[in-house]
Amino acid sequence: MLWASLLCLSLSLCLRSHAQSCLAAAEAAIARAPERKQNIYTTTHLFKRHLAQYFCPMTASQQLTVAEIGVFHGHTTAVLAAVFHQVIAVDVEESYLRLAARQTNGSRNVVFVTGDSGVDRWHAFRSNRIDAVVIDADHRYESVLADISNALSVKTVKHFAFHDYQAAGVRQAIAEFEELGALVNCQAIGSGWDGSAWYYDGWNADTETNVSEGRLCRRGKLGNLAPSFVNKTFYVYQTPIAEFRKEMDCLFLAGRMTCSTLQGSWSFRGEGRRLQVLLENPSGGALEVLFNKDYTAFIMGYLGSTYFGLQEGLAFMAVKQANRLFKDAKRQPL
Ligand SMILES: C[S@@+](CC[C@H](N)C(=O)[O-])C[C@H]1O[C@@H](n2cnc3c(N)ncnc32)[C@H](O)[C@@H]1O
Repeated sequence: MLWASLLCLSLSLCLRSHAQSCLAAAEAAIARAPERKQNIYTTTHLFKRHLAQYFCPMTASQQLTVAEIGVFHGHTTAVLAAVFHQVIAVDVEESYLRLAARQTNGSRNVVFVTGDSGVDRWHAFRSNRIDAVVIDADHRYESVLADISNALSVKTVKHFAFHDYQAAGVRQAIAEFEELGALVNCQAIGSGWDGSAWYYDGWNADTETNVSEGRLCRRGKLGNLAPSFVNKTFYVYQTPIAEFRKEMDCLFLAGRMTCSTLQGSWSFRGEGRRLQVLLENPSGGALEVLFNKDYTAFIMGYLGSTYFGLQEGLAFMAVKQANRLFKDAKRQPL
């Protein structure tokens, strides 16, 4: 311990020097990464630097874990590996993860996980303490909604960084969680962070924008309350399920349920898994929805029939996974 106290004469000096070496290690990794102009799928150097500047002062005093969702060739992963104690790097494409493993030079603090971030509410990560997430996967609105609510379902996650905030779907999904109060203290990061114009695909002037490249938020108090079925679509089948044909889609919004043929306002009924929905059809009336333990499925009674709802991501997962296995035949049938 004597050597430690000699090295760090005071705690604040010690933390400062730790943060500085974290920033220096991050800069070395940034220098090895291509700029977005050379590779439009990765984040800019500025985005990577802003992440390091935000997290290095924290990782100086705590051992933090980050989950990076959407890894590609691992250029941002390498910077996160320099900043965080541990990195969980998730991508749906196993071949990208193999490249990323080379890119991060076999860093021992990176674990690569093949998986689809939109499904299964991140059960695989639940037993880990994850402090931060960097989300840069599928930029479609519904996918970003799923990623955010999955990340919120891991209660230890306090910091949320998003890339490609200039993409409309990403921006809209984040805005909804900010309005709910689930994401707070959000700030612009990366290119355009100060409102200046930049080209998001590097050279193409048509892609000029002054919306920032990224956004960094903290978990708000309501983040713990936002039920995980909100902003999720469910495929609904009439029971007994005899064939793979859905009867309707149901989307749950904050306080509203909208299905193809009926809609209404929902509220919790007693314990948290049971909802009462007051219908807005001309005939009015109410129905009950009972969710399973992790809100990935429900049972609903309506007009004398029983319906089974399954979260879209789960219903689609089997098809998606099977489809991916056609890849070696150089053709995807679906
Ligand atoms: C824009 S790239 C990520 C770039 C990377 N963050 C970087 O800075 O270099 C998006 C990545 O997300 C992955 N991806 C797309 N949809 C996904 C999903 N549903 N789950 C996990 N990864 C996904 C793609 O395979 C791709 O590698």
